[in-house]
Amino acid sequence: MAENKTAKTQTKKPAKKPVTKKVRQTGKAKVGKPKKGLNRRTALITGASAGIGHDYASLLAEQGFDLVITARRKDRLQSLADRLEASYGVNIHIFPEDLSDPRAPTRLVENITKEGLSIDFLVNNAGYTVPGNFDMAKWQSHADMLQTMLTAPTELCHLIGIGMAERGYGRIVNMASVAGLLPGAPGGTLYGPVKSYLIKFSQALSAEYHDKGIHVQALCPGFVLSEFHDIAGNRDQMNRLPKFMWLTGPDVCRKSYESVMENKGPIVVNGLFYKILGTAVKILPSNLATKLLSLHNRNAKPLPRDIRDPASQTDKAL
Ligand SMILES: NC(=O)c1ccc[n+]([C@@H]2O[C@H](COP(=O)([O-])OP(=O)(O)OC[C@H]3O[C@@H](n4cnc5c(N)ncnc54)[C@H](OP(=O)(O)O)[C@@H]3O)[C@@H](O)[C@H]2O)c1
Repeated sequence: MAENKTAKTQTKKPAKKPVTKKVRQTGKAKVGKPKKGLNRRTALITGASAGIGHDYASLLAEQGFDLVITARRKDRLQSLADRLEASYGVNIHIFPEDLSDPRAPTRLVENITKEGLSIDFLVNNAGYTVPGNFDMAKWQSHADMLQTMLTAPTELCHLIGIGMAERGYGRIVNMASVAGLLPGAPGGTLYGPVKSYLIKFSQALSAEYHDKGIHVQALCPGFVLSEFHDIAGNRDQMNRLPKFMWLTGPDVCRKSYESVMENKGPIVVNGLFYKILGTAVKILPSNLATKLLSLHNRNAKPLPRDIRDPASQTDKAL
């Protein structure tokens, strides 16, 4: 299990201009502008060791947020923290966690509290897919994915949202996907359903929190250049897709940040192509859309580590 350790304690705080109440509450600070609207607010980003989480952490540091970053790979988190602290003078805490461990969210929040911090901006980003059809992969792989991408973000919203509501300020970004807006498709079977859940959950939370100063967003990018498809083992196949289907992490994060600060949403879809796709599936009869999406299985091949072992108690046929 990953050890919990604070990377650096807060030694000094860079001088900041005083913040007007109006800017604080409306969160109108624009990306790239001075950090006057965010006087030492703290953000928690899960899955910050790579890809979109790494880019979100960089953007929030640039905006003047102190950060708590988590993922399993501590070395990656440490080098990100070193770089961002040197570039932006913000304070960064590292709490490595494997979010497939059901105790991880509580442990993470306990460690944050022990440091005397409270979270103002939560980015529930950590995620991956389990390639292969549903019954090709062992149950434990599915269970770990559900814990990491469904239960953990939900629990973090619960643990952290209560404090945000008490303080009357919060920003929550739940990393969903365009996949969550589309009908279920073969291969990586639970990925779309998990992302659909995050979208509905964010909508409900956004409605509940609308008068509590908390803005909630379900972020729905299409394909983003990151390590995601290397981990899924389908990089070669994905490289055949046309360029217009690819988004970049910094663009995705910037759009998300601007939208959540201005309380646009709760659903934010990145990229014109994916906006059209999202609209098209609403217009098409859902059974037709399901058939069309089932024509191709991009995630057909399970990873060796996920392959079901018919001899194991949990994986054998009944
Ligand atoms: N790339 C895309 O095309 C795309 C499109 C739409 C949505 N998304 C979503 O965007 C999010 C980030 O994906 P990405 O594209 O940035 O992929 P990525 O580059 O592979 O990054 C995934 C991040 O999640 C972390 N993570 C994975 N399993 C974890 C676990 N058990 N515990 C803690 N952290 C874990 C990884 O860190 P460690 O390995 O160090 O733990 C890494 O920091 C995911 O939720 C994904 O579903 C991606």
